[in-house]
Amino acid sequence: MEIRSCFIVLILIQCSFHAFAATASRDSVTDAELQTLSEALLAADINNCANLVTVNQQGSTSFHSHRDNAPLPLLTVQSTAYSKPTIEKLLPLHNNYVARVSDAEVVTTQETQEETAFLDAIMPTSVMKKAEKFLVDKGFITTRRRLSNGSYRNNNRAFRDAIHQIWFGLYSRENNTLGSSGFEHVFLGEIKNEKVQGFHNWVFFSKEEQNNNLNYKGKIGPNVSLGDKGMIVKHKFDWNSKEKPISSMFVGTSPEFEIALYSVCFYTRPGSRCPVKLNGKNVSVATHYLYRQGKRYVGSAFPDI
Ligand SMILES: *[C@@H]1O[C@H](CO)[C@@H](O)[C@H](O)[C@H]1NC(C)=O
Ligand SMILES: *[C@@H]1O[C@H](CO)[C@@H](O)[C@H](O)[C@H]1NC(C)=O
Ligand SMILES: *[C@@H]1O[C@H](CO)[C@@H](O)[C@H](O)[C@H]1NC(C)=O
Ligand SMILES: *[C@@H]1O[C@H](CO)[C@@H](O)[C@H](O)[C@H]1NC(C)=O
Repeated sequence: MEIRSCFIVLILIQCSFHAFAATASRDSVTDAELQTLSEALLAADINNCANLVTVNQQGSTSFHSHRDNAPLPLLTVQSTAYSKPTIEKLLPLHNNYVARVSDAEVVTTQETQEETAFLDAIMPTSVMKKAEKFLVDKGFITTRRRLSNGSYRNNNRAFRDAIHQIWFGLYSRENNTLGSSGFEHVFLGEIKNEKVQGFHNWVFFSKEEQNNNLNYKGKIGPNVSLGDKGMIVKHKFDWNSKEKPISSMFVGTSPEFEIALYSVCFYTRPGSRCPVKLNGKNVSVATHYLYRQGKRYVGSAFPDI
């Protein structure tokens, strides 16, 4: 008995040591490397739509004010933006989720196909390839798979599988209900305790303004210009009459740019400030993560201006 339990403890120590060794640490990536990479991601954002989006920030507001200081919508989007190859594949995902975190997500075959089509569209893009190379080179993504006979094989799907898991894997925020995912939280929005959470994507924001489900109530603080690649805004809004007192998002960037940038920050600066550089400006990206059944998922990700 004693020897047996000792043996199990040894295995546990060895396993956790392996898990630790397989995870590159934040020290392996410098702030300067993150700044260089983020500028390269923005420069490579070929599905960027900034020239097709007009931003009308209007009046200022604050976290505590409930006044609506912006009678008009924030975003006016030319319809061609929605037919950019990756945005076209993003739109069908918008009705795949129930906003309440206490309601379980039901995933149909069609929804799984839509998710696959979106990943098929974004994974080969230059921004995702750059993020992949960076995370593989730095040891955050392991492409070597050990076979049962002890030799190794290259796993070309390692990055795609990781992206699929951290963004689309369902997890619970409440009552053990599988009602959330990183993608739903960031690229759509969620309702928890009658409050809006997440909601950091301009495409969904614009669609919900057009559907009269969203009332933009004003800007908070200065915007950050990304030159001809768009901007970062901070603001307040009501979604289906529930308030998000403060929020921020990129405007005009492609979904793959946001997934690439957030994923790099998720791996290299998990749960903390990720210092990137965009259009020559120092910008912080914030990511939050959750552990569920030994796996790490995106809890949230947004530009923290
Ligand atoms: C962003 O901020 C700058 C500087 O305050 C301002 O000139 C510009 O009009 C703002 N952009 C928008 C779209 O409101
Ligand atoms: C191990 O298995 C793989 C796949 O079955 C095979 O290609 C490889 O040659 C094997 N390696 C050894 C050392 O037997
Ligand atoms: C969570 O579970 C508790 C206990 O079963 C229940 O009282 C509560 O209403 C649930 N919350 C939600 C949001 O469903
Ligand atoms: C941007 O960040 C770098 C490195 O962290 C720093 O050296 C530089 O002074 C910062 N620039 C500005 C304008 O804050």
